Amino acid sequence: MADHPSDIVRLAASEFGCSRQAVHKHLQRLIAEGAVVESGQTRSKRYALAPMGQWDRQYDVVSSLAEDAVWRSDIAPLLGRLPENVLSIWQFGVTEMLNNVIDHSGARRVSVSLSQTAAATTIDIHDDGVGIFKKIQAALRLEDERHAVLELAKGKFTTDPANHSGEGVFFASRVFDRFVIASGEVFFSHDVDDREDWILQAGSAHGGTLVRMVLHNGTARTLKKVFDRFTADDDYGFTKTVVPVKLMRYGDDNLVSRSQAKRLLARFDRFKVVVLDFSGVASVGQAFADEVFRVFRNRHPEVDVVSIHASSEVKRMISRARTLGASDGLGR
Ligand SMILES: Nc1ncnc2c1ncn2[C@@H]1O[C@H](COP(=O)(O)OP(=O)(O)O)[C@@H](O)[C@H]1O
Ligand SMILES: [Mg+2]
Repeated sequence: MADHPSDIVRLAASEFGCSRQAVHKHLQRLIAEGAVVESGQTRSKRYALAPMGQWDRQYDVVSSLAEDAVWRSDIAPLLGRLPENVLSIWQFGVTEMLNNVIDHSGARRVSVSLSQTAAATTIDIHDDGVGIFKKIQAALRLEDERHAVLELAKGKFTTDPANHSGEGVFFASRVFDRFVIASGEVFFSHDVDDREDWILQAGSAHGGTLVRMVLHNGTARTLKKVFDRFTADDDYGFTKTVVPVKLMRYGDDNLVSRSQAKRLLARFDRFKVVVLDFSGVASVGQAFADEVFRVFRNRHPEVDVVSIHASSEVKRMISRARTLGASDGLGR
């Protein structure tokens, strides 16, 4: 309904194979129940899911602030009626993102806001700290704030290895229907619709870090199913990652150089299996492919690097690099 405010009646009628009158009658009932709101006059009527609840609160980030207490006393009671799998996902996301504010952001204040319709729940966590991408940029001495997004998307990245494992943002960005971070000049989002979509673009300058999580109230997704997708066969734990290669491209930057490839490959040796998702990447250059599929392979035979959603052009470059790799293996 969010995507079709003005033609929902026509769309629903054709989708469900029933008359417009029947859809209309059903809509009127939802309006009477308060689940849907209408606006505009006859011809230009628009429909939207009614906000069922809205809540927000600010917290001082002090040593007594504990993410599990906030979850238990403030958030969980608001979500109470949702199914168990949905609650577990929310508990994971809220506690991980609040813990990040407490442990990493240096923020003084954090606000948590929740809004709900009959279909979905949205929670925003907004802190006034140093900014997630700036923090990672400084720690890794990255040339560009946007490079930080790639490190988060690979997983197992943390600026505090003694106390953390770098899994919070990785899994949160994959368990929600929509996961967004706006911080500094970067806007990063992951959507699960018919197909996954990763977006990285310039955002308006944003102090601190804003994390937005959106989940359908009736989703069948479970934390376990998502965690299992990132475990290599017969393994236990986080040993496999899927990297959206598209996140390396800003504007029209083509993936051609060895230095770009090295940036992609950094920390791959922490995984047993790395799946490179080439969706949205039309082609790669020869040096880039050679570095990823031959040089890295020879250096790290224990890491299995595979590719998915590669265009025929990308496939051609990969197999060319692999063929060269094979002749190396025969001891040229
Ligand atoms: N709100 C935040 N403000 C500043 N930096 C953050 C914030 N959230 C996360 N980070 C940075 O992102 C990194 C990755 O976060 P996460 O995936 O949760 O892993 P971990 O908490 O285990 O380090 C953190 O180590 C930290 O450097
Ligand atoms: Mg964390």
